[in-house]
Amino acid sequence: MQQDYYTLRAQADIEYSIWSQPEKPRIDFAYDTSSIASGTEEIMNKLNEKLINENHQIETGVVAGYGLQYLNPLVQITFTDGTTVLYGPVTSDNIDDLINEALGNNRNPLDITIGMLHGNRNDIPTIDKHSFLQLEEERRLTRNLGFIDPDLINHYIARDGYLAVNSIFEKKLTDEEIRKEISDSGLAGRGGAFFPTGVKWGFLSSASTEDKYLVCNADEGDPGSWVNRILMEGDPHSIIEGMIIGALGTFANKGYIYIRSEYPLAISRMQKAIDDAYSLGILGQNILRSNFSFDLRIIKGAGAYVCGEETGLIASIQDSRGMPRIKPPFPANSGVFFNPTNVNNVESFASIPMIMRNGSNWYKEYGVESISGTKLFSISGDVKKAGIMELPWGVKITDVLETCGGISNNKPFKALQAGGPLAGYLPSSIAGTLELEPNQFKEHGALVGSGGLVFISDSACSIQLNLLFSQFVEDESCGRCTTCHGGNQRMTEIFRRISRGNGRIEDKANLDIIGNTLLYSNCVHGQASPTIMKNTVSHFADDYEDCVINKKCSGDVCSCPGLTKLIIVDQFDKKLDEAMNICPTGMIKKINGKYTINMKDCIRCGACIELAPEAIKKVSDGTTQEMPEFIPRIFSENHKSLTPHSVLIEPSSITTNVLVRGEKSLSGMENMTI
Ligand SMILES: Cc1cc2nc3c(=O)[nH]c(=O)nc-3n(C[C@H](O)[C@H](O)[C@H](O)COP(=O)(O)O)c2cc1C
Ligand code: SF4
Ligand code: SF4
Repeated sequence: MQQDYYTLRAQADIEYSIWSQPEKPRIDFAYDTSSIASGTEEIMNKLNEKLINENHQIETGVVAGYGLQYLNPLVQITFTDGTTVLYGPVTSDNIDDLINEALGNNRNPLDITIGMLHGNRNDIPTIDKHSFLQLEEERRLTRNLGFIDPDLINHYIARDGYLAVNSIFEKKLTDEEIRKEISDSGLAGRGGAFFPTGVKWGFLSSASTEDKYLVCNADEGDPGSWVNRILMEGDPHSIIEGMIIGALGTFANKGYIYIRSEYPLAISRMQKAIDDAYSLGILGQNILRSNFSFDLRIIKGAGAYVCGEETGLIASIQDSRGMPRIKPPFPANSGVFFNPTNVNNVESFASIPMIMRNGSNWYKEYGVESISGTKLFSISGDVKKAGIMELPWGVKITDVLETCGGISNNKPFKALQAGGPLAGYLPSSIAGTLELEPNQFKEHGALVGSGGLVFISDSACSIQLNLLFSQFVEDESCGRCTTCHGGNQRMTEIFRRISRGNGRIEDKANLDIIGNTLLYSNCVHGQASPTIMKNTVSHFADDYEDCVINKKCSGDVCSCPGLTKLIIVDQFDKKLDEAMNICPTGMIKKINGKYTINMKDCIRCGACIELAPEAIKKVSDGTTQEMPEFIPRIFSENHKSLTPHSVLIEPSSITTNVLVRGEKSLSGMENMTI
């Protein structure tokens, strides 16, 4: 027998109040992909072992990370009076301190204390005072991070989860009224194109077939973007609730969440959330005792970038080869299994419940004239502090950089790459004048995109960055259009040749032709793939001319391999012996007591310079260097290191295709789960 919302809520409130004010203190580990990458599991296991061995009266549990990834691994302690405090970065050495802290044995706050999430400890500042969070006005999308165990549906329900769905049933809102509320809120699709969500739902609602599909696009393929993952791992039910409301606003009866298989934790959390929602009668037949039914399942993608494009994604769901197809027909007319379909991004769906709960005017409290609400951004690259921020539209880029502690090693800010490989990049002279607002980026030939903000220092070389992204778009082309697969190959070849020191005057004109030809590709992947190249030639013209005409490379460490050589500047540095031993090609030799480097067979791995930075220097003196015929890609084939040496993207943000070149999955789909 299905229960009504209020019965579910009453049970959830009891469970949540016990969790929020436990009988014994509880240590919760932030358990998400970023934390796992930072070594959380090992510390968690050691702490659990100690608690059992020493019979401490302390519970343990998990929460999702608070978004301060530079302080990972994070731990929260909830004390018996309901106070919750966040700590990090935690190491195994802190285990005793944490146990004593939980037991109330410490006189002073631990030096790893970050802030108080809620409660009343006068000696600890509240979390909103934390320097990394100074640009956040209010956590709306991320309001449950740190405040729930994401695996427990009752925690979500107790924090007003599924209240919006129930209100729609109680108030008997029509599909039109739902769409109007969403349209009035000004919510624009968070997948990067910013199409008004309410309007898009209108296309599906007018279709009159028996089956209509709602698809959540959780492919998140842009390097540097992990905002969707944060939501799936941290608050999975908000996405499910958004989809149920979307179904009510469009009369869809079936739904899919398409998640890349590189996101195993997001997949398992979403699956658990779906199973729990089914078991409480929140999904399936007669949701919350209404006449409305909606079925939802997960599809795992194999990580092909173009399967994030909605028609490629639909093809992949159908077990067809994951290739974007020609539009029209648009998905609203012919989508999954040729039925009318609507595709929305994870963050778009996660925004829906709060809009329906609080109203469109509330949602518009934040934002700018052109776009309303808050947006999640994942910030990485050459910044001192990487992490997630939920920001109102309109925040200045320079403020974001300052809040992240500035550029690593206090180097100058060279460029901003926002929104992934199709969205371009802008020099600091322009990016530093912009606010986070889509039109401002467009005016300069770039896009804000889906939420990744990668800051780049002046140690990166524009040509190498360009080569990196050229290789990416070439690898990820599905191969349907000659313009796209051929054009991107030619573009990559040109940049590879330039980086080998063989740039030609006519390259610029040829790149221009390629850029224009790519516009005649079928989908946005091909059309937008020359964006970075266009930005390089126009915004980084000095770098381009230096490499092509003056044969000089401005990047640090090993950048354009044909334009740089390594020289030894201190023969007496003790590190040189180690550098000689580590060199994979044996190109560093000691002859008659003197070290030499032979550039002819040096593969420009940069290991020696990293080991002996005072003794070995990179110079680019306008001469083209001899180099091996075959040089491995500086950026690995499988995009594990999708950045030049100087740009470190948070490890867990690397989300792209794990299939190496030539092994592209036929369907783009790994398997299906119910
Ligand atoms: C090559 C390519 C990759 C894309 N990848 C994604 C993605 O990973 N996630 C996403 O939501 N949208 C992606 N999009 C945009 C989708 O096609 C679609 O516009 C979006 O999912 C619509 O959702 P929204 O209206 O909520 O933004 C991609 C587009 C292209 C051309
Ligand atoms: S533009 Fe590129 S990715 Fe898009 S359909 Fe054509 S070949 Fe495929
Ligand atoms: S860059 Fe790599 S291959 Fe070249 S000399 Fe240094 S260690 Fe050897």
